[in-house]
Amino acid sequence: MALRYHYLMRIGIIGGGQLGKMLALKAKAMGFHVSILDPYPHAPAALIADRHILGSVHDTRKLRELVDACDITTFDLEDINADALEALEKEGHHIHPSPGLLKIIQDKFVQKQFLADKGIPVPRFQAVDEPTPEAFAAFGYPLVQKLRRGGYDGRGVAVLESAAQVDDHLPGPSMLEEKVEIEKELALMVARSSKGQLKCHPLVEMVFDPEANICDVVMAPALVNKAQEEESIRIASQAIEALEGVGIFGVELFLTRDGRILLNEIAPRTHNSGHFTIEACITDQFEQHLRSVAGLPLGATDLLIPAVMVNLLGAPEVKGKPSILGMREAMDIPGLSFHLYGKAETRPFRKMGHITIVDHDVHQAREKAQRARQILKVTVQN
Ligand SMILES: Nc1ncnc2c1ncn2[C@@H]1O[C@H](COP(=O)(O)OP(=O)(O)O)[C@@H](O)[C@H]1O
Ligand SMILES: [Mg+2]
Repeated sequence: MALRYHYLMRIGIIGGGQLGKMLALKAKAMGFHVSILDPYPHAPAALIADRHILGSVHDTRKLRELVDACDITTFDLEDINADALEALEKEGHHIHPSPGLLKIIQDKFVQKQFLADKGIPVPRFQAVDEPTPEAFAAFGYPLVQKLRRGGYDGRGVAVLESAAQVDDHLPGPSMLEEKVEIEKELALMVARSSKGQLKCHPLVEMVFDPEANICDVVMAPALVNKAQEEESIRIASQAIEALEGVGIFGVELFLTRDGRILLNEIAPRTHNSGHFTIEACITDQFEQHLRSVAGLPLGATDLLIPAVMVNLLGAPEVKGKPSILGMREAMDIPGLSFHLYGKAETRPFRKMGHITIVDHDVHQAREKAQRARQILKVTVQN
């Protein structure tokens, strides 16, 4: 049955983390009724949603309960029960992005193979059922080992420079990738509607914390040349077209030292690299996602002002009730906006919130962000 936009459309979100929370906030502003499925009573999105179904994102019964109560269902994480969703989709429920696409994305090797088959440039890769020193040696160092399923925010990824680091490898079915000489990590939010309309947000640069392999800072616009920008847009758009994706997608790319653009991975959802769009773009990533899954025209993605987003990560050494140090001083910086996700506990490198700094001068924005980053600390209450 074709989906028709109507007053007080009911949207279901599988997962209630920070992405679900920000999506729910936008959905409420746009007049949607919001239900979430999340196992934690204190999930960030539970603060906003009209209805919270408490339960696992793998639980077939709970997924049915959510999908039955909604006109459209989407998700804020990819490690969910795609088989159950596929069965629900066959019954006629509207689930976007589609469970079939989700299955391709969930397995890093299947995803890479799909992209490579479509002619999209990716690093050299290979699947290994059992990661052994022999398998690593045969593939060749330096390499990056990635668990095929379930990894996120650098968990599930091990960089092995040489055989001397073999003890740092992870157990489980994996994909090996050549370690790319990265000049810059780039990301592009690509939205595609059910009618096939496609729009990209501005290309951004991601900077990673070297210790945790987690995205730390995002800068918009990316300072790359026109050809590199166009190539990034071409590759990312081609990937989303090939997947026939409906929704918004975070496409992670590498600009290599020798000037090539390679696709790293695709997140089938809103993405950390798109948070800056809340303050800096005409249509933010959350509204764009809602427009695409609801079958509405996509919004304009123009960058109104340069922006830098800084993640507020839990301090490496502590765990407990969170406390943010330096908030008053940071808020004195002109153009700074605060987002705290409302998580009840901080843990090492956990994403607890973010700030976005906008400035008409891109270098000023970067400088202010550096200052804010030094001032702000997520620690624990005494
Ligand atoms: N082939 C590669 N060569 C060099 N660095 C890589 C490679 N693959 C991943 N990385 C580094 O590890 C980070 C995390 O890897 P990624 O595959 O994006 O996993 P996830 O984001 O799911 O944790 C990347 O953002 C990048 O910094
Ligand atoms: Mg990644």
